[in-house]
Amino acid sequence: AGQQLRYDGQTVVVTGAGGGLGKAYAVFFASRGANVVVNDLGGSFNGLGGSSSMADLVVKEITQSGGKAVANYDDVVNGESIIKTAIDNFGRIDILINNAGILRDISFKNMKDQDWDLIMKVHVIGAYKCARAAWPYMRKQKYGRVINTSSAAGLFGSFGQCNYSAAKLSQVGFTETLAKEGRKYNILCNVIAPIAGSRLTATVMPPEVLEVLKPEYVVPLVAVLAHTSSDESGAIFEVGGGRVAKMRWERAKGALLRADDSFTPGALLKKWADVGDFSKPSHPEGPANFMELLEDAQKLPKNPPSEDLDFKDR
Ligand code: NAI
Repeated sequence: AGQQLRYDGQTVVVTGAGGGLGKAYAVFFASRGANVVVNDLGGSFNGLGGSSSMADLVVKEITQSGGKAVANYDDVVNGESIIKTAIDNFGRIDILINNAGILRDISFKNMKDQDWDLIMKVHVIGAYKCARAAWPYMRKQKYGRVINTSSAAGLFGSFGQCNYSAAKLSQVGFTETLAKEGRKYNILCNVIAPIAGSRLTATVMPPEVLEVLKPEYVVPLVAVLAHTSSDESGAIFEVGGGRVAKMRWERAKGALLRADDSFTPGALLKKWADVGDFSKPSHPEGPANFMELLEDAQKLPKNPPSEDLDFKDR
């Protein structure tokens, strides 16, 4: 037991902790000594209604087994009230897990503004509001751990989920910037794309899959990333089914063309194979040095005239 990761004296806010993954995180952190704010609006999976019962049940479960937890029923767009619950009850906020989420699946053709807006509200504005409210405390104490939640739908796209995909990939850019801005205050920020059986996946996964892909198999990654001993920041993780793997950008060889009036669509088409040549990829952690590239490009001879070349003639 002396070897366990512990979080004694720390305060964790888990949004959407009334069920699924959030509940698993909340129960875990409480079992390892943390004070936990169990936030949940208690609405339906598609963002309708609300009630206190979901958060209350989780708090009850935690306190009955000797843990410390309080409930908060705010919508995540009210991030300030959620963080205030942590400060009022426990005097600090160390770990924020932006986990709350809903789905409004519908084909792009049939999408209504309400489906788009509600998804942006919960996933994008909600994560922003909670992190924004926690940030000054984390900076001041020079300590913080933020874990945001993306999705395979965001990383790869997913039929009928363009609203959710857009919102979920936003969490990658959001996290990468927070990681950069937080580093010098020891605020480490990471983003996970989890897979687990829950009421959100109940519509897309068969029951036998739902049952074995447990939220508990996502918890160890979140535990490691949230721990004081972690040095990981700005990383994307795919996690579920017992595997944890980092994801990253990959850049192809690319086509380099002299940048002058000979750089025509036709000239580019001639080198189209290089644009997508992933045989010797690089894995950049930042943008290319475009001034350096331009210097190399200008050393090349003029591109041969090929104005009328199209994809078929290539
Ligand atoms: P879940 O539906 O069991 O949990 C989400 C919780 O968030 C619910 O308890 C819900 O009441 C709460 N919630 C929804 N809107 C809220 C709001 N505005 N304010 C406060 N609480 C709110 O679903 P699950 O699967 O545990 O999802 C957790 C997170 O993981 C979500 O962000 C989801 O998009 C993400 N995710 C889950 C995957 C999975 O395989 N389960 C796959 C990829 C991403």
